[in-house]
Amino acid sequence: MTALADGRSVSPVGPRHVAIIMDGNGRWAKARGLPRVMGHREGVKALKRTVEAAPRLGLQCMTVFGFSTENWSRPADEVSDLMGLVRNYLTSDVDRMEREGVRLRVLGRRRGLPADIVEIIERAEARTAQNTRFILQVAFNYGGRADIVDAVHRHVELVMAGEIRWPLVEKTLGAGLSTAGAPDVDLIIRTSGEKRLSNFLLWEAAYAEMVFQDILWPDYGEAALAEAVVAFGARERRFGGVEARTAMAAG
Ligand code: IPE
Ligand code: IPE
Ligand code: MG
Repeated sequence: MTALADGRSVSPVGPRHVAIIMDGNGRWAKARGLPRVMGHREGVKALKRTVEAAPRLGLQCMTVFGFSTENWSRPADEVSDLMGLVRNYLTSDVDRMEREGVRLRVLGRRRGLPADIVEIIERAEARTAQNTRFILQVAFNYGGRADIVDAVHRHVELVMAGEIRWPLVEKTLGAGLSTAGAPDVDLIIRTSGEKRLSNFLLWEAAYAEMVFQDILWPDYGEAALAEAVVAFGARERRFGGVEARTAMAAG
């Protein structure tokens, strides 16, 4: 730990895994008298900038919330615009991801998504599966509660098949979540000034630090991410103990 003049200590270890609730696209558009879809389009540009900056700031993994299980309740044309944007993003950006060593994973339920999007997701995941430099997880048709329910279902099926034993323990449930295999989430960021999780990473948030930034998502990029990483560095993580521990030591 590095001691500060005021007696606090700062973790020298930056966040490995940052998760972002990309919020405020609609307000960004409204402030400019534009339709909401324009905010979502600018939001995709902000996503590209942020993904590009993440490895430079020492991140190994980033998870972004693109569409929640509750976002189906939005007007049909907005839902359709968001489906169109994910279609474009996952087709046009996969070459770059492949080249730059980014492994793409899409979290969330495939059931309920248009069939062509499921195909696009599977192709993009397969093409980048061998990459190890950086993991980008896009949560799409994702809900933290749904993800936990799905993990419990899978677990019960394995128990009934005699492959694993009851009772359920944290480690096996965690291994059934769609985030399994990624490093623990160190930091959750939400933009636009809202201060809630909105059903994002409920299980994984257990010991994540939270940073709320007023910036609207379409304005996000390297500077804002760097600011959040600095805020994380000033936090003292104790994981229920007495001494400050780094994320690495938390295990
Ligand atoms: C976040 O921006 C993007 C998605 C939820 C897909 P919003 O669309 O929620 O923007 P606001 O909250 O209305 O400003
Ligand atoms: C959460 O934002 C979902 C995404 C960012 C994809 P919302 O804008 O849907 O959340 P609420 O409705 O304000 O809680
Ligand atoms: Mg919102």
